[in-house]
Amino acid sequence: MMTLLLAWASICLTIIWAPSNWLWSFTTAHGLLVSLVSMYLIFNLDSELFIVDNLSGPLAMLSCWLFPLTLLASQPKMYFEPMFRQRVFIANATLLQVFTLLAFMSSDLMMFFFFFETSLIPTMIIIARWGAQDVRLDASNYFSLYTILGAVPLISILLVAYSTLGMLKPSPELPLMMWTTTFPYPTFLWFILNTAFLVKLPLYGLHLWLPKAHVEAPIEGSMVLAATLLKLGGYGMLRTSTLLQVPLYHTALLCMVFALLGIMITAFLCYRLTDLKALIAVSSVSHMNLVVVAALLHTPWSFSGATAMMIAHGLTSSALFCLANTLYERTNNRTIIILRGALVIFPLAGAWWLVVVLFNMGFPPTPSFIAETLIFTSLFHWSKIGFFIVCLALLFTTGYSLYMLASTMRGPFPLHIKVPLPFIIREQLLLVLHIVPVIFLMIYPSLIFF
Ligand SMILES: *[C@@H]1O[C@H](CO)[C@@H](O)[C@H](O)[C@H]1NC(C)=O
Repeated sequence: MMTLLLAWASICLTIIWAPSNWLWSFTTAHGLLVSLVSMYLIFNLDSELFIVDNLSGPLAMLSCWLFPLTLLASQPKMYFEPMFRQRVFIANATLLQVFTLLAFMSSDLMMFFFFFETSLIPTMIIIARWGAQDVRLDASNYFSLYTILGAVPLISILLVAYSTLGMLKPSPELPLMMWTTTFPYPTFLWFILNTAFLVKLPLYGLHLWLPKAHVEAPIEGSMVLAATLLKLGGYGMLRTSTLLQVPLYHTALLCMVFALLGIMITAFLCYRLTDLKALIAVSSVSHMNLVVVAALLHTPWSFSGATAMMIAHGLTSSALFCLANTLYERTNNRTIIILRGALVIFPLAGAWWLVVVLFNMGFPPTPSFIAETLIFTSLFHWSKIGFFIVCLALLFTTGYSLYMLASTMRGPFPLHIKVPLPFIIREQLLLVLHIVPVIFLMIYPSLIFF
């Protein structure tokens, strides 16, 4: 564990001493090296405090893998800032990644809570400091307010629990949840814990901060938010679902109804959005609500479905944000109708869009298809009506994915783009690095299905 932390800390040296014109190349290369090393270390972890198992392993790997990609993506926007601010930005990005990584690996609920909440600070700094417009301050306020509203009850109940029951030794069988079986009010505990997670996930109805934060955040923020921060909530839900027992079903049922309707409503809402980044954000709400459903169903199949869904969605939505960002950098616009016709200028981008959109809508061999199948099967067993609603939502998802593809790629030659810069190698590489792991998971799915 110490090696892992030292590996991440070594990035600071590069940040401070890398020569100015090599800063981004050096940090990206170093980041890639560190993420590969930490993937190796995660596989062979020997630590009392940190535990990696079938659920947290893939998520920890995802957050490692994403780090060099975020640096790769945020390069052009940061390039014109003063040198010192570029270094500060990379430091903040690194810190954010370390916090999410440690949150996924924590074995103790209090420790998880600590990292879960500290990841808020760098995210807020990144949104508020490097976002695009003035509204970014509102967005970061929304984001922190929602998170804190969920977190305050959680920390109170954790303090009560830890002071009455004391600290227990972490056990690999029930990471995070050692003492919960002895806690007197499991229903109450489940409710409070999950309020915080459902805000982060976010459940439909508590999701208002997400489109705002995504739209205003710089590309780095959007990628991390979509790929790992939302998954912290999903991870927490899956872990705490060991608390779900028979007397809890009424509380959980309400949640289930919101999640099921949320999947459909958000998928439907996507047709009405004119802002490309908001569309991708709302579509992530739809996908993440499926994870809520899976966690509440609490069956082995729905569990592996939810893990796979989180990994697949993490890679896909991050790739979608990168694609949206490439268009944004060329046109300075996020409105779908203005972005149309891109296929004529960027033929290869059309191929990337097609692949990523197919991943997003769960085209058969992709991991999200397998995940959806697993979750749908469990849901069918639980309720036929729920199954019907989710199937309708699936139709809408396919519809808006194709709408997104057609409306950005097709159409007449866009005359308003003055200098249509071609896709450069950095951008191609960025997309390849997103797509390759998904293809790898198609070939070798046992990495995320257990
Ligand atoms: C993150 O950014 C803020 C604001 O720009 C800065 O004050 C702070 O030092 C940065 N954090 C790190 C670890 O560099």
